[in-house]
Amino acid sequence: MEKLCYCCLLFWFIFVSLLTVQIKSDSPPMSDEKSKIQDGKLEGKISAEEKYKKLFQEHRGTQLNAVKTITSFGSYEQKYKLVEIMLKQLFAVLNEAKTNVTEWKFLPGDPFPENETMQHAVSKIFENTALFGDLVLRMPDIVHELYDRQREWQMALTWGTGFCNESRIFEGANSKLLNLMAQEVNILPKDDNFINPYSAESQREKEMMMELNEAEIKKLKKKEKKKIKRGPRLSSHTEL
Ligand SMILES: *[C@@H]1O[C@H](CO)[C@@H](O)[C@H](O)[C@H]1NC(C)=O
Ligand SMILES: *[C@@H]1O[C@H](CO)[C@@H](O)[C@H](O)[C@H]1NC(C)=O
Ligand SMILES: *[C@@H]1O[C@H](CO)[C@@H](O)[C@H](O)[C@H]1NC(C)=O
Repeated sequence: MEKLCYCCLLFWFIFVSLLTVQIKSDSPPMSDEKSKIQDGKLEGKISAEEKYKKLFQEHRGTQLNAVKTITSFGSYEQKYKLVEIMLKQLFAVLNEAKTNVTEWKFLPGDPFPENETMQHAVSKIFENTALFGDLVLRMPDIVHELYDRQREWQMALTWGTGFCNESRIFEGANSKLLNLMAQEVNILPKDDNFINPYSAESQREKEMMMELNEAEIKKLKKKEKKKIKRGPRLSSHTEL
């Protein structure tokens, strides 16, 4: 019991760090001179969107690392408990942000807002949707157990996925993540060649392949030993 509480505490910290990205306008301003060189035609102005994209990218690295830490820690029950807490919080924030942007008539696909209150809400949608992607792809068995029976979460995520997809924030690896996540939870139909490499089934297959490989390597090694013992006779064989 004590151990569990310790884990919870540890992950609470990871979790808190996960969910706070700040787009403070008081972050060190780029000198006009410098950004003129970097962005050429942009005339020294870095848009809120560009700024956020960079922060988002960094934050994604933190999120992914945290999720990787969780996957390799504790028992199934401990992970389950932790993921349950995370998902409850994640969807509470996502729903709140959804309510806010809807009230403000901010539409999916609108440019990244200049207004900081709106930036906060919009970034929560991006970050929490992406984090859900990491969680469901890396811990599909636990996340499905929780998510599949929550109709409200499913609606929020479907909305959030569309919102992210229409933004210009999800590019490259993040766009791929969004797409895989949407297939994993059936927001999009699964491609014929869709596999989640982290599902229990895939893991078992991987282990089987590794065992097979090991067996083959052993066989090969035995053969090689034999080859050496038989010496020159074998060389004439192989030439045949
Ligand atoms: C930012 O947006 C919120 C929500 O629409 C609004 O209440 C607030 O007045 C805006 N702030 C500024 C500085 O425009
Ligand atoms: C939503 O709006 C409420 C009230 O304006 C604010 O307290 C809250 O922080 C906002 N939440 C998000 C995620 O934008
Ligand atoms: C994103 O939008 C494109 C174009 O509408 C669509 O083809 C794709 O399936 C969408 N992806 C997700 C993850 O919803």
